[in-house]
Amino acid sequence: MTHRPTAAQLEACLRALASGLAPHQLRTNAEALEDYGRDESDLGTTPADAVVLAETTDQVSFVLRTTQAHGVPVTPCGARSGKSGGSMPVDGGVVLSLERMKKIKRISVEDLTAVVEPGVVTGDLMKAVEEVGLFYPPDPNSWEWCTLGGNVAENAGGPRALKYGVTRDYVLGLEWVMPRGEVLRLGRQTIKGVAGYDLVGLLVGSEGTLGVATEVTLQLLPRPRVVQTALLIFPAVETAARAVTAVLAGGILPRTLELLDDVSIRAVDGRGFNFPPGTGAAVLAEVDGNQDDAVFAELAQLSEIATAHGASETLLAQGDAQREQLWAARRSVSTALRALARHKLSEDIAVPRSAMVDTIQRLKAMGEELGLTVATYGHAGDGNLHANILFDSPDQRPLVETALRRMAELAISVGGTITGEHGVGLAKRDLLPLEQSPGVLQLQRQLKSLFDPAGLLNPGKVFQAL
Ligand code: LAC
Ligand code: ZN
Repeated sequence: MTHRPTAAQLEACLRALASGLAPHQLRTNAEALEDYGRDESDLGTTPADAVVLAETTDQVSFVLRTTQAHGVPVTPCGARSGKSGGSMPVDGGVVLSLERMKKIKRISVEDLTAVVEPGVVTGDLMKAVEEVGLFYPPDPNSWEWCTLGGNVAENAGGPRALKYGVTRDYVLGLEWVMPRGEVLRLGRQTIKGVAGYDLVGLLVGSEGTLGVATEVTLQLLPRPRVVQTALLIFPAVETAARAVTAVLAGGILPRTLELLDDVSIRAVDGRGFNFPPGTGAAVLAEVDGNQDDAVFAELAQLSEIATAHGASETLLAQGDAQREQLWAARRSVSTALRALARHKLSEDIAVPRSAMVDTIQRLKAMGEELGLTVATYGHAGDGNLHANILFDSPDQRPLVETALRRMAELAISVGGTITGEHGVGLAKRDLLPLEQSPGVLQLQRQLKSLFDPAGLLNPGKVFQAL
């Protein structure tokens, strides 16, 4: 079922919106409608009919009330850095952007908390808290430009999830605007608290389908004073993956263990960092703590285990500049892969670590069988693999669909999930029933209709049309 509005519905809705907003907050020019019609999922563009740039909670509430009253779909967005099409207005209607709500309202050193608006760029919060000796660990690779509201909607992860967990682990409380405009305060300001159901836990990761966060209370940590980073070089991706599990089984918990296979390395090599010739795979390992000696000793132990499992070299980052070079290379994998072929589709399956080597081998074999280039990289420490399919001709699209389905089936068959961090959104809507039973899907649909009976908030996402 489509919720695409009629011309009359749209016109009336836009008139009502214009009456409650400043002219600069409402955009209907073609360029904006296109821009806000896509994200980083490579799923194309579904143009909006109007874009609203909200600046206050009251305005968010007003936009939701107004769109609901006129039967017009509304799709919230942050920086549109999402990888699953979660902010794409697939039925047109209004895109409600939170990017202008970017105040850091409070950072409390004593409480180790921060209160932010949803449009704050994740990296800006990271820097602000670091200046006062604190640490906000969740680090999606787009942290330089993604927003905390988007991170909350998608329950964003990142390399440091290995040691520190994902966005949900840091959200204590929310100011939440319900799909029909009601404003609620949920959760808590304290570190502990078990009153009532864990609604915050439900709403973080609800992919913009159950409401809109207008204020987020986040837990912080003391900033680790020492960080050491090393790049481990391997002959092949399987060896690297085996070493990753060996490090963890050896009793070491680095804050990152990021894997790059040969195709990913080819994509980023020479862009600010040169990999040693013949590198077949690499692992970017980072260890943190408060004592120089202890951190260094842990990294040395990690390197020993990796060497025993086939690493040919350990390159230790000398200082912040080199460390940043390595991370810049890692962060650019996704975009660099895009340059290797005309089209790219990225997966983010997660599997139990014990199944990782087998999974990587089977992904490669599948790529060879179907004649598709598959690049695998990602958060190997978590068993969260970004398997990307590169292809040149749109004619290969059916083959790519087959590959995506087989990847999902493979992940599920070894006890994994179809999405470790990017969300279901539009990209994996048709794959979700492979993982979740009809009863589980039905329960979630019931929750959705309790929050949003008309189904106008971010329609077409997560669940298949009935
Ligand atoms: C990454 C994004 C794609 O890890 O999740 O690069
Ligand atoms: Zn990732």
